[in-house]
Amino acid sequence: MTAVIAIDGPAGSGKSSTARAVAAHLGMAHLDSGGLYRAFTLAALDRGVPLDRGARIAALARELPVRLVLGDGGFFPEVAGVDVSEAVRRPDVTAHVSAVSALSEVRVAANDILRDAASLHPLGVVMDGRDIGTVVFPDAGLKVYLTAAPEERARRRILQEGRAVTADALAAEAERLVARDAADAGRSIAPLHQAGDAVPLDTTRMTLSEQVQAITALARNAFPHLDIA
Ligand code: C5P
Repeated sequence: MTAVIAIDGPAGSGKSSTARAVAAHLGMAHLDSGGLYRAFTLAALDRGVPLDRGARIAALARELPVRLVLGDGGFFPEVAGVDVSEAVRRPDVTAHVSAVSALSEVRVAANDILRDAASLHPLGVVMDGRDIGTVVFPDAGLKVYLTAAPEERARRRILQEGRAVTADALAAEAERLVARDAADAGRSIAPLHQAGDAVPLDTTRMTLSEQVQAITALARNAFPHLDIA
Protein backbone atom coordinates (compact mmCIF):
# COMPACT_ATOMS: atom_id res chain seq x y z
CA MET A 1 0.00 0.00 0.00
CA THR A 2 1.11 3.55 -0.73
CA ALA A 3 2.62 5.34 2.25
CA VAL A 4 0.44 8.24 3.37
CA ILE A 5 1.48 11.14 5.56
CA ALA A 6 -1.64 13.07 6.61
CA ILE A 7 -1.15 16.70 7.62
CA ASP A 8 -4.31 18.35 8.92
CA GLY A 9 -4.98 21.62 10.66
CA PRO A 10 -6.73 24.98 10.49
CA ALA A 11 -6.48 27.50 7.64
CA GLY A 12 -3.13 29.17 7.21
CA SER A 13 -1.28 26.88 9.65
CA GLY A 14 1.39 26.31 6.99
CA LYS A 15 0.15 22.85 6.02
CA SER A 16 0.63 23.19 2.27
CA SER A 17 4.10 24.76 2.30
CA THR A 18 5.25 22.23 4.88
CA ALA A 19 3.63 19.24 3.16
CA ARG A 20 5.16 20.28 -0.18
CA ALA A 21 8.65 20.58 1.35
CA VAL A 22 8.32 17.28 3.24
CA ALA A 23 7.20 15.50 0.06
CA ALA A 24 10.15 16.93 -1.88
CA HIS A 25 12.53 15.83 0.87
CA LEU A 26 11.15 12.29 0.97
CA GLY A 27 10.63 11.84 -2.78
CA MET A 28 6.88 11.55 -2.32
CA ALA A 29 4.10 13.46 -4.09
CA HIS A 30 2.40 16.42 -2.43
CA LEU A 31 -1.38 16.62 -2.55
CA ASP A 32 -3.22 19.69 -1.24
CA SER A 33 -6.78 18.45 -0.72
CA GLY A 34 -8.00 22.01 -0.12
CA GLY A 35 -7.08 22.72 -3.74
CA LEU A 36 -9.55 20.05 -4.84
CA TYR A 37 -12.40 21.54 -2.75
CA ARG A 38 -11.46 24.90 -4.21
CA ALA A 39 -11.65 23.44 -7.74
CA PHE A 40 -15.20 22.15 -7.06
CA THR A 41 -16.10 25.64 -5.78
CA LEU A 42 -14.50 27.39 -8.76
CA ALA A 43 -16.31 25.13 -11.21
CA ALA A 44 -19.67 25.79 -9.53
CA LEU A 45 -19.10 29.57 -9.36
CA ASP A 46 -17.98 29.86 -12.98
CA ARG A 47 -20.76 27.63 -14.37
CA GLY A 48 -23.47 29.27 -12.27
CA VAL A 49 -24.44 26.18 -10.27
CA PRO A 50 -26.06 27.21 -6.95
CA LEU A 51 -23.53 26.68 -4.16
CA ASP A 52 -25.95 24.74 -1.94
CA ARG A 53 -26.64 22.00 -4.51
CA GLY A 54 -24.22 19.22 -3.63
CA ALA A 55 -25.54 16.66 -6.14
CA ARG A 56 -25.41 19.17 -9.00
CA ILE A 57 -21.90 20.28 -8.10
CA ALA A 58 -20.72 16.65 -7.88
CA ALA A 59 -22.33 15.89 -11.28
CA LEU A 60 -20.73 18.99 -12.80
CA ALA A 61 -17.34 17.87 -11.43
CA ARG A 62 -17.77 14.46 -13.11
CA GLU A 63 -18.79 16.04 -16.44
CA LEU A 64 -16.10 18.70 -16.77
CA PRO A 65 -14.20 16.86 -15.18
CA VAL A 66 -12.56 18.18 -12.03
CA ARG A 67 -9.37 16.15 -11.62
CA LEU A 68 -6.08 15.96 -9.77
CA VAL A 69 -3.13 15.60 -12.13
CA LEU A 70 0.31 14.39 -11.11
CA GLY A 71 2.92 16.99 -12.09
CA ASP A 72 6.60 17.34 -11.22
CA GLY A 73 6.33 18.08 -7.52
CA GLY A 74 2.89 16.76 -6.82
CA PHE A 75 -0.77 16.85 -7.76
CA PHE A 76 -2.47 19.98 -9.08
CA PRO A 77 -6.19 20.62 -9.72
CA GLU A 78 -7.58 20.74 -13.24
CA VAL A 79 -11.04 21.82 -14.43
CA ALA A 80 -12.03 20.77 -17.95
CA GLY A 81 -8.40 20.18 -18.88
CA VAL A 82 -7.17 23.54 -17.55
CA ASP A 83 -4.67 23.86 -14.68
CA VAL A 84 -6.52 25.91 -12.04
CA SER A 85 -3.76 26.04 -9.38
CA GLU A 86 -3.80 29.85 -9.52
CA ALA A 87 -7.52 30.41 -10.15
CA VAL A 88 -8.52 28.43 -7.04
CA ARG A 89 -6.85 31.12 -4.89
CA ARG A 90 -9.40 33.73 -6.04
CA PRO A 91 -11.01 35.56 -3.09
CA ASP A 92 -14.54 34.55 -4.20
CA VAL A 93 -13.46 30.89 -4.15
CA THR A 94 -11.95 31.32 -0.67
CA ALA A 95 -15.13 33.00 0.55
CA HIS A 96 -17.38 30.12 -0.58
CA VAL A 97 -15.23 27.00 -0.29
CA SER A 98 -16.24 26.13 3.30
CA ALA A 99 -19.94 26.10 2.34
CA VAL A 100 -19.34 23.93 -0.75
CA SER A 101 -17.06 21.52 1.12
CA ALA A 102 -19.71 20.99 3.81
CA LEU A 103 -22.04 19.28 1.25
CA SER A 104 -22.07 15.49 1.58
CA GLU A 105 -22.19 14.75 -2.20
CA VAL A 106 -19.18 16.99 -2.72
CA ARG A 107 -17.22 15.23 0.02
CA VAL A 108 -18.01 11.76 -1.35
CA ALA A 109 -16.85 12.80 -4.83
CA ALA A 110 -13.73 14.52 -3.47
CA ASN A 111 -12.77 11.54 -1.29
CA ASP A 112 -12.91 9.21 -4.31
CA ILE A 113 -10.61 11.54 -6.26
CA LEU A 114 -8.20 11.88 -3.31
CA ARG A 115 -7.96 8.12 -2.70
CA ASP A 116 -7.53 7.33 -6.41
CA ALA A 117 -4.80 9.96 -6.75
CA ALA A 118 -2.88 8.62 -3.73
CA SER A 119 -2.91 5.09 -5.12
CA LEU A 120 -1.15 6.37 -8.28
CA HIS A 121 2.16 7.21 -6.64
CA PRO A 122 4.66 4.36 -6.15
CA LEU A 123 6.39 5.78 -3.07
CA GLY A 124 3.68 7.69 -1.30
CA VAL A 125 1.88 10.97 -0.77
CA VAL A 126 1.99 13.77 1.73
CA MET A 127 -1.61 14.96 1.79
CA ASP A 128 -2.74 18.06 3.65
CA GLY A 129 -6.27 19.11 4.56
CA ARG A 130 -8.83 19.02 7.35
CA ASP A 131 -9.99 15.37 7.52
CA ILE A 132 -7.16 13.40 5.92
CA GLY A 133 -6.16 11.59 9.12
CA THR A 134 -9.72 11.27 10.45
CA VAL A 135 -11.77 10.32 7.35
CA VAL A 136 -9.88 10.04 4.06
CA PHE A 137 -6.97 7.92 5.34
CA PRO A 138 -7.77 6.82 8.89
CA ASP A 139 -4.97 4.23 8.56
CA ALA A 140 -2.31 6.71 7.38
CA GLY A 141 1.15 5.65 8.56
CA LEU A 142 1.80 9.12 10.01
CA LYS A 143 -0.65 11.83 11.03
CA VAL A 144 0.40 15.33 12.02
CA TYR A 145 -1.91 18.09 13.24
CA LEU A 146 -0.42 21.53 12.55
CA THR A 147 -1.56 24.60 14.43
CA ALA A 148 -0.30 28.16 14.84
CA ALA A 149 -1.61 31.28 16.57
CA PRO A 150 -4.21 33.14 14.43
CA GLU A 151 -2.03 36.29 14.14
CA GLU A 152 0.90 34.24 12.87
CA ARG A 153 -1.34 32.38 10.43
CA ALA A 154 -2.69 35.71 9.18
CA ARG A 155 0.85 37.08 8.78
CA ARG A 156 1.94 34.06 6.72
CA ARG A 157 -1.14 34.24 4.52
CA ILE A 158 -0.61 37.97 3.81
CA LEU A 159 3.07 37.44 2.97
CA GLN A 160 2.17 34.47 0.75
CA GLU A 161 -0.20 36.72 -1.18
CA GLY A 162 2.50 39.41 -1.53
CA ARG A 163 0.51 42.03 0.41
CA ALA A 164 1.79 44.54 3.00
CA VAL A 165 1.62 43.33 6.62
CA THR A 166 -0.24 46.17 8.34
CA ALA A 167 -2.17 46.01 11.62
CA ASP A 168 -5.47 46.38 9.74
CA ALA A 169 -4.59 43.70 7.20
CA LEU A 170 -3.54 41.34 10.02
CA ALA A 171 -6.76 41.87 11.97
CA ALA A 172 -8.96 41.40 8.89
CA GLU A 173 -7.10 38.28 7.74
CA ALA A 174 -7.11 36.72 11.23
CA GLU A 175 -10.87 37.30 11.40
CA ARG A 176 -11.41 35.58 8.03
CA LEU A 177 -9.24 32.60 9.02
CA VAL A 178 -10.96 32.14 12.38
CA ALA A 179 -14.41 32.33 10.72
CA ARG A 180 -13.39 29.67 8.16
CA ASP A 181 -12.01 27.43 10.95
CA ALA A 182 -15.28 27.79 12.87
CA ALA A 183 -17.24 26.75 9.75
CA ASP A 184 -14.88 23.81 9.08
CA ALA A 185 -14.85 22.63 12.71
CA GLY A 186 -18.59 23.13 13.22
CA ARG A 187 -19.96 21.23 10.21
CA SER A 188 -21.64 17.88 10.72
CA ILE A 189 -19.66 15.88 8.13
CA ALA A 190 -15.90 15.38 8.51
CA PRO A 191 -15.36 18.41 10.78
CA LEU A 192 -11.89 19.76 11.36
CA HIS A 193 -10.47 18.10 14.47
CA GLN A 194 -7.32 16.36 15.55
CA ALA A 195 -7.27 12.58 15.06
CA GLY A 196 -6.67 10.71 18.33
CA ASP A 197 -3.43 9.26 16.96
CA ALA A 198 -2.14 12.45 15.27
CA VAL A 199 1.02 14.16 16.51
CA PRO A 200 0.27 17.84 17.32
CA LEU A 201 2.81 20.41 16.10
CA ASP A 202 2.45 24.09 17.02
CA THR A 203 4.39 25.94 14.33
CA THR A 204 3.89 29.50 15.66
CA ARG A 205 7.60 29.87 16.40
CA MET A 206 8.98 27.34 13.93
CA THR A 207 10.62 28.06 10.60
CA LEU A 208 9.65 26.04 7.55
CA SER A 209 12.87 24.08 7.70
CA GLU A 210 12.34 23.26 11.41
CA GLN A 211 8.85 21.97 10.54
CA VAL A 212 10.24 19.82 7.73
CA GLN A 213 12.94 18.42 10.03
CA ALA A 214 10.37 17.61 12.73
CA ILE A 215 8.04 15.79 10.33
CA THR A 216 10.93 13.99 8.62
CA ALA A 217 12.05 12.68 12.01
CA LEU A 218 8.51 11.42 12.68
CA ALA A 219 8.39 9.83 9.20
CA ARG A 220 11.68 8.04 9.83
CA ASN A 221 10.09 6.27 12.80
CA ALA A 222 6.73 5.69 11.14
CA PHE A 223 8.16 4.22 7.90
CA PRO A 224 11.35 2.37 8.85
CA HIS A 225 11.29 0.41 5.56
CA LEU A 226 11.62 3.63 3.52
CA ASP A 227 15.17 4.24 4.76
CA ILE A 228 14.64 8.00 5.16
CA ALA A 229 17.87 10.05 5.50
O1 C5P B 1 -6.50 24.25 2.73
P1 C5P B 1 -7.40 25.35 2.17
O2 C5P B 1 -7.50 26.51 3.10
O3 C5P B 1 -7.07 25.72 0.78
O4 C5P B 1 -8.83 24.65 2.11
C1 C5P B 1 -9.95 25.34 1.63
C2 C5P B 1 -11.21 24.79 2.26
O5 C5P B 1 -11.46 23.49 1.77
C3 C5P B 1 -11.21 24.65 3.78
O6 C5P B 1 -11.54 25.86 4.44
C4 C5P B 1 -12.25 23.59 4.00
O7 C5P B 1 -13.56 24.16 3.98
C5 C5P B 1 -12.13 22.72 2.76
N1 C5P B 1 -11.38 21.49 3.00
C6 C5P B 1 -12.07 20.42 3.54
N2 C5P B 1 -11.45 19.23 3.73
C7 C5P B 1 -10.16 19.07 3.40
C8 C5P B 1 -9.43 20.16 2.85
C9 C5P B 1 -10.07 21.38 2.68
O8 C5P B 1 -13.24 20.55 3.86
N3 C5P B 1 -9.58 17.88 3.56
